[in-house]
Amino acid sequence: MNDFLFSLLTWYEQENRTLPWRKKDVTFYEVLVSETMLQQTRIETVKLYYDRFLKKYPTIESLAKAKEEDVYHIWQGLGYYNRAKNLLKTAKILVNCKDFPKTKEDLLLLPGIGDYTSSAIRAIFFHQKEVAFDGNLYRLGARLFLTDDKEEIKRKFLLSLKESDPAIFNQVLMDIGQLICIPKGNPLCEQCPLKCFCLAYQEKKTQEYPQKKKKKEKALEIRKVFLLIQKDKILLHKRKSTGLLSSFDEFPNILASENFESLKINAHSLRKISFTHHFFSHKVWEMHYFLGELEEYPKGEDYFLQGITSFDEVTLPSAFSYGVAYLKSLEKNRSI
Ligand code: ADE
Repeated sequence: MNDFLFSLLTWYEQENRTLPWRKKDVTFYEVLVSETMLQQTRIETVKLYYDRFLKKYPTIESLAKAKEEDVYHIWQGLGYYNRAKNLLKTAKILVNCKDFPKTKEDLLLLPGIGDYTSSAIRAIFFHQKEVAFDGNLYRLGARLFLTDDKEEIKRKFLLSLKESDPAIFNQVLMDIGQLICIPKGNPLCEQCPLKCFCLAYQEKKTQEYPQKKKKKEKALEIRKVFLLIQKDKILLHKRKSTGLLSSFDEFPNILASENFESLKINAHSLRKISFTHHFFSHKVWEMHYFLGELEEYPKGEDYFLQGITSFDEVTLPSAFSYGVAYLKSLEKNRSI
C-alpha cells in the first residue's frame, strides 16, 4: 500500500464516523435510499429521515407496495419530492428484476439515478472501481492536484484508488471533503491526512482552489406587460408549447422595442403602474407593467378572458407574480 492510501485509511479508522447506512453488510436498498436522500441534503438531516424511512419501509418489497402519498408523507421536510417519487418507481421496477443492476448503463435507466448516485452505488455496494464525484470531491481534488479540470481530478482519484476497497475509498474522500477540506473559510489543513500530498497546501494556495468561475452575465430582456381589464375579467394568453415558460398562461407581453399595436389588441387608458425583475437561469426580464381597459382582442389566437376572482384556476408562472398580486389587491379594494 502506498503512503497516500495508508494515510487515508488510517485516518478513516481513527475517525470512525458513525452513519446509519455505513455498516458491513449494507444492502443495495439501503445504499439506494441513503444516496437518494443525500442528494442535495445535509448528512445531519438525512440521518433522522433515513432511520424513520427504514423503519417504515425496511425492504425494497415493502417500499414497492407503498402508496405514493404515504411515501411523500414520510419524506415531508426533506424536500425535492421528485426523489421520493422516483425512489418509489425504482423500487417497483426492481422488485420484478432477478438481479440488481450493476453496470452504469443499467443503473442510469432507473428513475432518479444519475451519474453521482450510480457511481456511489457501484462503489459502495458493488465495490467497483468508481469515484462518486460531487462538489465536495471536486473541491478536495482541485486543491490536492492543483487543477480545476474535472476529468483530470477524476482520473487522478481513480488512479490513487489502486487496490483499496472502493466503498471505503469513496467514503473517506467524502468525509475529508465534508469535514476538513471545507468550502468556506479556511480548510482545516492541519488535521488533514492528505496535507503532505496536497499541492495547494504546499504552495499555500488552498484559498485559490477551486478557482471561482466567473458567472456568466445574464442577458437582460426588457418587456412590457399588460394587465387589460374588461369588467371583472382579465385578458390572458397561452404561451407557445416550446421555449421559455412553454405552455404556461401569461399576461400579454412584448419586448420593449415592440409596439403595442403588434398584439392586435384594442385597449384604452393604458398607464404604467410599476416594474419588476424576474431572474431565470440564463436571463433576466425587466417587466414594465401597464394597466388598461380592454375593448377587443384577436379571437382564436390563444387569448382568453379569466375572472379576476378565479385566478387560482390558471397556471401563471412566478415571473408574473407581481401582476397577479396587483390584480388581487385591486379586486380586494373593489369589494371593500
Ligand atoms: N454523501 C453522499 N453519499 C455519502 C455517503 N455515503 N457518506 C457520506 N456522505 C455522503
